[in-house]
Amino acid sequence: MQKQDVVDFKNQITMLLKNLDIPLSEDDLLKIIEVPPEKNMGDYALPCFKLSKLLKKPPKAIADELALKIQGNLPDYLECVDSLNGYLNMFIKKTVYFESVLETILAKGYDYGSSLIGGGKKVTIDFSSPNIAKPFHVGHFKATILGYSLYNIYKFCGYDCIGINYLGDWGTQFGKLIVAYKLWGNKKEVEDNPIKALYSLYVKFHDEAEKDPSLVTEAQAWFKKMEDGDNEALSLWHWFKAESLEEFQKLYDILGVKFDVVVGESYYNDKVDNVVKLLESKNLLSQSEGAFIVDLEQDNMPPCLIKKSDGASLYATRDIAAALDRKEKYNFDKALYVVAVQQNLHFKQWFKVIELLGYDWYSNLAHVGFGMVSLETGTIKTRTGNVVFIEDVINKAVEKVKFIIENKNTTLKNKDEAAEKIAVGAMIFSFLSDTSYKDTVFSLDKVLDFNGETGPYLQYTYARICSLLDKAKVEVSSKIDYSVIVDDSIIDIFKIAYEFPDTILLAMSKNEPSIIAKSIMTLAQAFNSFYHSNTIITDDKTLMHARLAVVKVTQTILHNGLRLLGIEPLKEI
Ligand code: ARG
Repeated sequence: MQKQDVVDFKNQITMLLKNLDIPLSEDDLLKIIEVPPEKNMGDYALPCFKLSKLLKKPPKAIADELALKIQGNLPDYLECVDSLNGYLNMFIKKTVYFESVLETILAKGYDYGSSLIGGGKKVTIDFSSPNIAKPFHVGHFKATILGYSLYNIYKFCGYDCIGINYLGDWGTQFGKLIVAYKLWGNKKEVEDNPIKALYSLYVKFHDEAEKDPSLVTEAQAWFKKMEDGDNEALSLWHWFKAESLEEFQKLYDILGVKFDVVVGESYYNDKVDNVVKLLESKNLLSQSEGAFIVDLEQDNMPPCLIKKSDGASLYATRDIAAALDRKEKYNFDKALYVVAVQQNLHFKQWFKVIELLGYDWYSNLAHVGFGMVSLETGTIKTRTGNVVFIEDVINKAVEKVKFIIENKNTTLKNKDEAAEKIAVGAMIFSFLSDTSYKDTVFSLDKVLDFNGETGPYLQYTYARICSLLDKAKVEVSSKIDYSVIVDDSIIDIFKIAYEFPDTILLAMSKNEPSIIAKSIMTLAQAFNSFYHSNTIITDDKTLMHARLAVVKVTQTILHNGLRLLGIEPLKEI
């Protein structure tokens, strides 16, 4: 990985060792030099076991010799070196290390940690993608914030991102909805509360269809009408769609999430024939029970369904058509699909079909799957069926935060706005703090605990820092006396700050914002321990300037980390 701007000490050490005639290439050295698990083992260590074989000497003897040589002519960035149990441990001079970090942070500010690695290459990120007239549930919420965080991260790393909200706006369910609306619907109810009203109709349709199966046939007929371009069917569908979108938009506004493209599955209806033709021309299409499929037996997968016996297109076909279209429109270097792991097979299947079609860019398609989030029962009541509407969860969270803020007696002017931001930030942090694929249980009380490992804890720390910097009214500079800042917590803070650019690259390469979430949580904890054992604003100016530099470093990293997760850092709470 390429490090930007901060001095690359690992590289310097590699050069140093290389000049000592170590029989390993630079690349090999870079690979084996480690960051030791304990602080007292130095900042970097060279394990001498591989060398022992090459040099036919015990590792300890090699480490001893190297330590002696380096110690005799110590470069100015090293404090000391030490031989321990076959390792050569190297300690970077804290002043040099801190100065490098501080200088870079002061120079780059809120760009610190960004890079140009992406080189402007295009990444499409398909995320959120709820279904029209259906609840925006917890899974969509996770897809939304995970996708948006990845969007921010890739952008920060120099990619040109195209965020796509691929709405589920086509399928037989709309036939059912039309039948239900015509039988039991009410215009005003839909306008007042679109998703809930439409979803209730959908639920009612299923209840009634159990008693009267002719409803299903009727629904199929209405969907067929939609496919054939019937005016009445399409105008109802347009209306359902417009109402739903308006409702979704409210949520996106609260979350601060934006898309570059909002496009429904329906957009690909007239493009699926082309997919069918392509598959035919490559002899990939076969018929099974009247339907058209791509056989994937050789790849140990069930067949990919392309076209139903009644001619209706399918989810996978539309995804294939959309991928071809996106490749042509954006010529993406990478296409990410942020969708729950339940759809693993779907993505594997149609990615395979792209490969079988002979497109070498199949390997640039990636499904970023995530595990299930269940809600701790009892905390959130559901209003329709068993589905939890995410807006109900957010409303409840906002209420709770308001209550907490009231009791904190702050001088905050805009409490309602702050409460909403804290509540949303709390939810985002909790959804992004665990490895994405893990199944998790969401508890509102836990995520709102201002003292736990939570969003509010980070927000609170950030606000505390901003108020410290405001109060001090000092321009932080890198010309400080580094010898007065020696606490362990400060070493932790600078280490996290030093590694932050790499942390972001790692999060990007693994499509895992939780790596950033963990890093800023550890940072906030280190900061609070520093803050509790040191007075920052003091009469001793040397000390104050040095400590304020630590505060500034923390502020920048926290700010950038929160932003990358999609959480707005608040100066005041
Ligand atoms: N609308 C789908 C659902 O709610 C998710 C779509 C994901 N994106 C895609 N390209 N298939 O399950």
